[in-house]
Amino acid sequence: MKVLVIGSGGREHALAWKLARSGRVKRVYVALGNGGTEGETRCENLGLPGTLPSVEAQEALFAFARQRGIALTVVGPEAPLTAGIVDRFRSGGLAIIGPDTNAARLEGSKVFSKAFMEKYGVRTARSRTFSEYTQAAAYAGEHFKQRDRPLVIKADGLAGGKGVFIAEHYAAAEATLTSFMQEGSLGDAGKAVVLEAFLSGQEVSVLAAVSVVPGKAGTILPFIAARDHKRRFAGGRGPNTGGMGAIAPVPDFSSAAAEDFRRFILEPSLRGMEQEGMDYRGFIFFGLMVQDGLCSLLEYNVRLGDPETQALVPLMDFDLTELCDAILRGRLQDFSLRWKGGAVCAPVAVAAGYPGSYQTGYPITLDQDGFSQTGALLFIAGAEKKESPEKDSRLYTTGGRVLSVSAWGTDPEDAWERAYRGMGAISFEGMAFRTDIGREIPHP
Ligand code: AMP
Ligand code: GLY
Repeated sequence: MKVLVIGSGGREHALAWKLARSGRVKRVYVALGNGGTEGETRCENLGLPGTLPSVEAQEALFAFARQRGIALTVVGPEAPLTAGIVDRFRSGGLAIIGPDTNAARLEGSKVFSKAFMEKYGVRTARSRTFSEYTQAAAYAGEHFKQRDRPLVIKADGLAGGKGVFIAEHYAAAEATLTSFMQEGSLGDAGKAVVLEAFLSGQEVSVLAAVSVVPGKAGTILPFIAARDHKRRFAGGRGPNTGGMGAIAPVPDFSSAAAEDFRRFILEPSLRGMEQEGMDYRGFIFFGLMVQDGLCSLLEYNVRLGDPETQALVPLMDFDLTELCDAILRGRLQDFSLRWKGGAVCAPVAVAAGYPGSYQTGYPITLDQDGFSQTGALLFIAGAEKKESPEKDSRLYTTGGRVLSVSAWGTDPEDAWERAYRGMGAISFEGMAFRTDIGREIPHP
């Protein structure tokens, strides 16, 4: 079969790598892909007119999938999902993995997803929704009069990771509300906000396969737990990023916590999807805060996580195309996910300055022998292949997050050691990474 992967980051490289290893797959097309997917066996990058998620790009993907007989399309990022690519492909009779636009609101609108959680009794932080600046500011004022706790401000719409702000005091809350609601710093995404109680604990990402179609009992099959490390610097300090590295599984996510998650988050979420008549045949990501074995839901994402996917893929001991078939055919309840033992540590290398401004265009040097000895996988997030002045093909950086090294080990220590030996075999100007992925000691 021929498969199409939509997206161009590290998650999509990991997905393309895994799909291409299926004995059923002849070719994996990646739109747009990157310098990593370009070099992968049986993979090919596709150009696109316009940029995702424009209608023009969507129509081009649809036409390509139809003409080339693509048997399966997997969508990486959220933007094409909330823009309706699944509806477009399904109405044209093509198999695609993802939620319809109705279900995609679980990620696309924080106001919708919080209302959904409350309606169906999914355990989450207490919150209020506002579409008027004065009322939001008054609520924030009351909050800080009564409590010495931060207040979490969430813009309603997609904001590329810039829509959540944790305010420590009123002045900071007011400044953010002004920026989101009055100055329109996030465009329409910030017109409404959710103001939410601050939760402490450890964050855990549970990714899962979902198969829900109207009129039938659905299934959500959770993967082993993963953890992203979002802050730029060691110990969870510094600004938020798109992810500085991930691990799987998560040693401190106990089986009791997993059971609590199933009962108080997964099951009520599934009931809600069924009752709302969603057509959701894809992947979902539960962003959890866990404290003393009790899980609260911070957010849903209607896709796989990045960089969690890069940590999970090496542990998958099943054929991903078969999982996709089970999702699409409503046979997920009969599918058994098999995971390799051991652990993965997947640190991300970024450009100097990231997540602020940074330079691109630096050549990446790889000591192939040294890297191979670690058994690790190299997943590219932001680099392209170009001809070097010496006339050979080389990777050059194009983004802030450049690559991840996904290392499998017999245990978390072994994985950590291999991952950082792998990092040591790579260099580019300004290359930076955290050395405490999987070993973060949270600061008080
Ligand atoms: P979200 O997009 O809702 O997951 O929020 C992004 C990040 O903000 C999360 O990964 C958490 O680190 C943090 N966050 C969100 N909501 C809360 C909350 N209620 N309490 C504490 N931290 C939060
Ligand atoms: N790792 C967080 C995300 O994919 O949104």
